[in-house]
Formats: sequence, structure tokens, C-alpha cells
Amino acid sequence: MKIALLGCGNLVSAIFKGFYQKNPDYNFEILTYTPTHYRAEKLAKEIKGKAVENFQDLRDCDIFLFGFKPQNYSEAVLEYKKIIPAGKQIWSVLAGIDTEILGNDFPENSILRIMPSICAEVGESINLYTHSNKLDLKVFERIFSSVGYNYKTKNDDELDQLTGVSGSGPALLYYFFESLVDVLEKKNMEKLEIDKFIKTLCKGSVDLWLNKNTSLEDLRKSVTSKGGMTHEALKVFEDRGLFETSKLAVQAAYRRSKELKVE
Ligand SMILES: NC(=O)c1ccc[n+]([C@@H]2O[C@H](COP(=O)([O-])OP(=O)(O)OC[C@H]3O[C@@H](n4cnc5c(N)ncnc54)[C@H](OP(=O)(O)O)[C@@H]3O)[C@@H](O)[C@H]2O)c1
Repeated sequence: MKIALLGCGNLVSAIFKGFYQKNPDYNFEILTYTPTHYRAEKLAKEIKGKAVENFQDLRDCDIFLFGFKPQNYSEAVLEYKKIIPAGKQIWSVLAGIDTEILGNDFPENSILRIMPSICAEVGESINLYTHSNKLDLKVFERIFSSVGYNYKTKNDDELDQLTGVSGSGPALLYYFFESLVDVLEKKNMEKLEIDKFIKTLCKGSVDLWLNKNTSLEDLRKSVTSKGGMTHEALKVFEDRGLFETSKLAVQAAYRRSKELKVE
């Protein structure tokens, strides 16, 4: 079994380094290719793969992973159509290129669209995936579950909708934490202290949630006494429509995913 990694940027490197860390004795071949070679060589060294200088040398691979930028798609596809044999799997992590586009360009191949998140770098990605036709998912499961958890969506549309939470989610959360950082900055607290303060707050809150087998609502209630400080703070969130704002943000991400598809 041979897998070709076409593009070895931040995301593909994070996924395969994560996979290699957990499976140093994996039993297939990984070939890497990038136009400028440097990142292909670098990743190949890090994961005991083999970099190829010419993508023509990838003809006998079984799985082809598209890991380049969506803006390179139209040009790349012209070349890859010439070398990817019928019947082989094509995996794509490209945002905005759905299984219909891929299926039209590669009608003789099985298509798997995967949308991981940047949290793959720490092994905690939500890997949304969907596929257009029957597909053996064993190798996919093995690789991607080493950097997070895999969630199958009904179709591309559901994948795009959920990406507004799984993919944009880290940025939405960071933005919220930034607002708390801003509060502390206004109190003239030192930068290093603020960093430690907010990271402890986030980690503590998540760890507590992970450790206790209870719902977010119950947890929130357990730290909110009627008439107390937190109760008063949460009332502001409610009055200002925090839920509605979050929903609108996720919807905006979804809308943008549709626009990006036709640009
Ligand atoms: N980053 C994320 O968090 C994230 C999350 C979900 C999905 N994605 C998707 O993942 C893909 C990669 O994103 P990234 O952030 O990892 O990008 P990146 O760091 O900019 O890496 C892009 C890679 O693609 C290579 N490349 C360019 N044209 C190519 C071609 N024709 N054939 C093979 N390789 C080619 C580049 O080669 P050189 O090194 O030679 O320039 C580079 O190694 C994108 O499609 C993006 O939509 C990213």
C-alpha cells in the first residue's frame, strides 16, 4: 500500500507527524511531493517516508491525498488527472472543493473529502468526512483517528455546516478568551500573568467538564448561585443574546463556504 501526499504544508504535516508519533512502525509506504521539494523532503524525513522530485513517480500509489491550497486546485488537477489511475482513492482536505467537483474531475476514482481542524497539531482535531461512493475506510480511520476523532457527515452540505463549529470553533473560542484577556489588560496585569491566568481558566474549565460526567448546563448551574456574581454576569450574556450571536457566526461561516465554492 502506497500513499501519496500531494502538498506537505501545515495541515498535512500535523496529521502525518501525529500519525507517525503514535504508529512509528506503520506498514505502508508514504511518498511526499511538493513543487519546491523542501517541505516534502522535510516531512518525509520526519515520518520515515520518501520524497519524490517528480509527481510522475507517484503513478503506482493507491491513495492520493490532495493537501495543497484550494487556489492551486484547477492547475494541479490538470496534471494529476494524467497520473492518477482509475479505481484509486483520492482523499482531499481542500476547503471549498466538494465531492461533486472532485467526482466530476475524477469520475473513475473513489473520493473521500475530509475536513480536519488545526487542532490536529495537538492530536485533538474533529475530522469531518464524507464520501461519494463505496470506499474502504480502514486506512483513513487508522491515520486520522491518531490526530483526533472522525465524524461522518451525511453529505457535503452537512460537512460545510459543521465546519463552522469544528473548523472555525477554535478561532471563535480564542476570540472569546481574547475578550477576557482584554478585561485583565485593562487591570494592568502583566502579560505573562494574563497568559497563565487565562490558560489555567480554559484548561481548568475543560478538564472539569471532561472529568465530571455531566452536562455543560449542569456544570454552569453548579457554579452559579441565584443572586450571586456569576448569575449577574450570565444575565448580561443572556440579555445581549450570546447564543444568537454564536449561531449567526456559525451561519456566516457556512454562507462563506458556499461563496468560496463558486469564486
Ligand atoms: N491549515 C488548516 O488549519 C486547515 C484546516 C482544514 C483544511 N485545510 C486545507 O488544507 C490544505 C492545506 O492547507 P495548509 O494550511 O496546510 O497549506 P500550506 O501550509 O500553505 O501548504 C500548502 C502545500 O501545498 C503545496 N502545493 C502547492 N501546489 C501544489 C501542487 N500542485 N501539488 C502538490 N503540492 C502543492 C505547497 O508546496 P510548497 O511547499 O512547494 O510551496 C505546500 O507544501 C488547504 O486546502 C486548506 O483548505 C487547512
